[in-house]
Amino acid sequence: MASSLLLSFLLYSLILQSVGVVAQTNSTIAIGDSFTAETSNSTWLLSPSGDFAFGFLPIQDTDLFLLSIWYAKIPEKTVVWYANREIPAPKGSKVELNADDGLVLTSPNGVGLWNTTEELSAKVSHGVFNDTGNFVLEGGGWETFKYPSDTLLPSQFLQKGGSLSSRLKESNFSKGRFELVLQNDGNLVIHSINLPSGSANENYYESGTVESNTSSAGTQLVFDRSGYLYVLGENNEKYNVSEQESKVSTTLYYLRATLNFDGVFAVYKHPKNSIDGEGWTTVWSKPDNICTYIVSAGSGVCGYNSLCTLEVDKRPKCQCPKRYSLVDPEDPFGSCKPDFIQGCAEDEPSKNRNDLYEFETMTDIDWPYSDFVLQKPFNEKQCKESCMEDCMCYVAIFRYGDSCWKKRLPLSNGRVDATLNDAKAFLKVRKDNTSLVPLNPTIVNKTNNRETLVLAGSVLLGSSAVLNAVLIVAICISTSLIFKYKKKLRRVSKSDASFEIESHLRCFTYAELEEATNGFDKELGRGAFGIVYEGVVNNNTASKARVAVKKLNSFMLDQAHKEFRNELNAIGLTHHKNLVRLLGFCESGSERLLVYEYMSNSTLASFLFNEEKQKPNWKLRLELAIGIARGLVYLHEECITRIIHCDIKPQNILLDDYFNARISDFGLAKLLNMNQSKTNTGIRGIKGYVALEWFKNMPITAKVDVYSYGVVLLEIISCRKCVEEMDEEDEDKAILTDWAYDCYNDGALDALVEGDNEALEDKENLEKLVMIALWCVQEDPCLRPTMRNVVHMLEGTVEVQVPPYPSPISIQYSLN
Ligand SMILES: *[C@@H]1O[C@H](CO)[C@@H](O)[C@H](O)[C@H]1NC(C)=O
Ligand SMILES: *[C@@H]1O[C@H](CO)[C@@H](O)[C@H](O)[C@H]1NC(C)=O
Ligand SMILES: *[C@@H]1O[C@H](CO)[C@@H](O)[C@H](O)[C@H]1NC(C)=O
Ligand SMILES: *[C@@H]1O[C@H](CO)[C@@H](O)[C@H](O)[C@H]1NC(C)=O
Ligand SMILES: *[C@@H]1O[C@H](CO)[C@@H](O)[C@H](O)[C@H]1NC(C)=O
Ligand SMILES: *[C@@H]1O[C@H](CO)[C@@H](O)[C@H](O)[C@H]1NC(C)=O
Ligand SMILES: *[C@@H]1O[C@H](CO)[C@@H](O)[C@H](O)[C@H]1NC(C)=O
Ligand SMILES: *[C@@H]1O[C@H](CO)[C@@H](O)[C@H](O)[C@H]1NC(C)=O
Repeated sequence: MASSLLLSFLLYSLILQSVGVVAQTNSTIAIGDSFTAETSNSTWLLSPSGDFAFGFLPIQDTDLFLLSIWYAKIPEKTVVWYANREIPAPKGSKVELNADDGLVLTSPNGVGLWNTTEELSAKVSHGVFNDTGNFVLEGGGWETFKYPSDTLLPSQFLQKGGSLSSRLKESNFSKGRFELVLQNDGNLVIHSINLPSGSANENYYESGTVESNTSSAGTQLVFDRSGYLYVLGENNEKYNVSEQESKVSTTLYYLRATLNFDGVFAVYKHPKNSIDGEGWTTVWSKPDNICTYIVSAGSGVCGYNSLCTLEVDKRPKCQCPKRYSLVDPEDPFGSCKPDFIQGCAEDEPSKNRNDLYEFETMTDIDWPYSDFVLQKPFNEKQCKESCMEDCMCYVAIFRYGDSCWKKRLPLSNGRVDATLNDAKAFLKVRKDNTSLVPLNPTIVNKTNNRETLVLAGSVLLGSSAVLNAVLIVAICISTSLIFKYKKKLRRVSKSDASFEIESHLRCFTYAELEEATNGFDKELGRGAFGIVYEGVVNNNTASKARVAVKKLNSFMLDQAHKEFRNELNAIGLTHHKNLVRLLGFCESGSERLLVYEYMSNSTLASFLFNEEKQKPNWKLRLELAIGIARGLVYLHEECITRIIHCDIKPQNILLDDYFNARISDFGLAKLLNMNQSKTNTGIRGIKGYVALEWFKNMPITAKVDVYSYGVVLLEIISCRKCVEEMDEEDEDKAILTDWAYDCYNDGALDALVEGDNEALEDKENLEKLVMIALWCVQEDPCLRPTMRNVVHMLEGTVEVQVPPYPSPISIQYSLN
């Protein structure tokens, strides 16, 4: 060990001497100089020490070139910067330096491929290649360090707004799926993006350097000369990105910080003079386990149906499960397809499914977001049987000794995870593979590309009727909002026709439902959209099932609404244990009826706001809070057609046999097309569950549901309604959100749960829940967490910060 160090030191001294010689080279480029991409010699310019080369590198297996900077002295020729990532240069392309445009890259037939024109601040005098690996256009204010690709070098820094963008693959330099950004608020974040739109998914790394009590906002990401990576705060403090200062010597080692194509951000070192062929090794990397990062809008780190495992260097490896193979054999990180096809009953009559399929059993794996149903309590045998009989089921996960999740294709976010403990995965595969029919690839693509948004729910359906003056204004604003959104929605739904193939809604006749409900006899409830009746229908299997039949108000129906079925199919495709399932529908003349699962335990409202002295069980209330949050995560991020509910309130949350919270009425506003003049009749109250965006000319996003959720959470905590009429002396308690903040701020949470001993004994959780709720009800939608964040906070995987006062700006409307 010591001797090898000594040896490298000797060699290093040797190199130093030779560097002295090389440093004589003039690493400048004069105006008018140019360089052409040839196969033989691609270096235009070496840095004075010869460490870095600038020129054309051929792209593996192609005749194309990348104008780039790379390490010149090591065999790997590792690229650290590249210009024309999207348009590789054909052989014979030429790069030229001119005063007005800086560097200009043109193809042999004169087509412009890339230039620095837009990025120059003044005329360029000449180009200089630095020993740091930075190529500078003197006078023009342009340098490669300012426009990084996927790598930072020692002494390079990122300004606010600066970013690194990963490659698509190791050997494809096109813009990839991951991005590291020093945001304008000072936070350094890493997340995946959705291609081609570029919209960002949730961060999996955050430096947390935003203005707060504990830290000041970041101004720069600095990779200093000694290889220490930190965010420099406004207060000049250094916030480590690496766990500690790197002990790696920059005289002995090359260092680079690279955002890899698989999303792992790492600092690597390479001996400057490698004796035993030692290459790049990892100094440190983030995140600790990229496999567990959920990409809600896509396949996950690996492709669809694939499984992610972590290699020793914390880089992910993707593998297809047994009897699945890569769609593109050249792309090990791509999607997998089953090597068989599963037919539904009509394709395979008279065959016992057990003769056709068997299970491959695996442990410690999961695809957490592809389940369409949870069955519980089930034993292992029931779980397998249920999946065997279900032609939609490709995998069943059995966990906790009694829970069975059935999953369909495509499976996403697959990972091998030893922390899953007792989880078993049963992969259903076909026994005979003689009559293989390839899986139709369009099925995979269709789900993949859906980015549609359904704006849902009734807009303003609070139940309090206190606020008449504001109401008028609200109606005007909200109708104009609806109008604005309607345009967009119409456009989106045009492409939805293909849904019908996938959805399995039953079409009932009016007579059937009339009979099922005994002539619409027993009313379960009345809502803004219509009246709900209890009924009993026959299943396919000749058994009977209790259902809830919603008869939509006919005056709300736009006769010309041809998209009714498409919208229905979108709703019918949602499967989540915290949503009420739509089973079927009926279209008959001007009548529209929807058939839902029957929920035996009424609504969250009747559960919370009963008149009895005893408050409902605290633990159960916590479970309900998490359940609702999970249902919303599904609607916002996980279902094929994204749905914003817009009308989250306790009356819309139903309780099933097992007291699971089940969200209802999602997707209805869009279904009913929200005809302005007519829906107003449905609008009755305002303040309460409705976020401020509805009253201002602000875009309506999923954050409106987060607001409503926060209000509902406070109601769950306190078992009281969000607006209650109070005596004069208790006036400050009338609005629950305000009162809750006061209680929290005064350290008087006891008042909020007065007489609720279970809650009082669970102080820690109580405070956490109130804090989460207060984050959700922030007037500024940007401050509100996403529902996924809420779930993480509720589950305790993310710490809850101290919430600010919910309305920093004075509220724009008054309360009387
Ligand atoms: C390097 O070249 C530039 C332009 O060709 C010239 O102005 C400069 O004097 C040269 N420097 C050295 C040290 O030779
Ligand atoms: C390659 O080009 C560089 C810079 O133009 C030059 O110094 C070097 O001698 C060339 N090498 C070969 C093998 O042509
Ligand atoms: C530089 O690129 C821009 C945008 O691609 C193009 O409009 C412009 O003509 C280019 N300039 C030169 C000198 O090629
Ligand atoms: C790199 O280039 C900049 C700008 O020309 C110069 O100020 C700096 O001294 C150079 N650094 C090295 C190490 O050559
Ligand atoms: C890189 O990937 C993109 C997108 O798949 C493709 O269009 C392009 O041809 C690839 N480039 C190379 C050099 O393979
Ligand atoms: C955080 O800042 C607020 C106001 O700036 C201050 O009242 C509070 O005491 C601070 N808390 C801590 C822990 O520093
Ligand atoms: C950050 O790095 C510095 C310098 O190595 C070290 O002293 C400090 O303990 C580190 N801080 C944290 C929180 O890791
Ligand atoms: C059928 O599957 C077996 C086991 O996976 C495999 O060895 C065999 O080659 C397959 N046969 C065909 C025709 O694909």
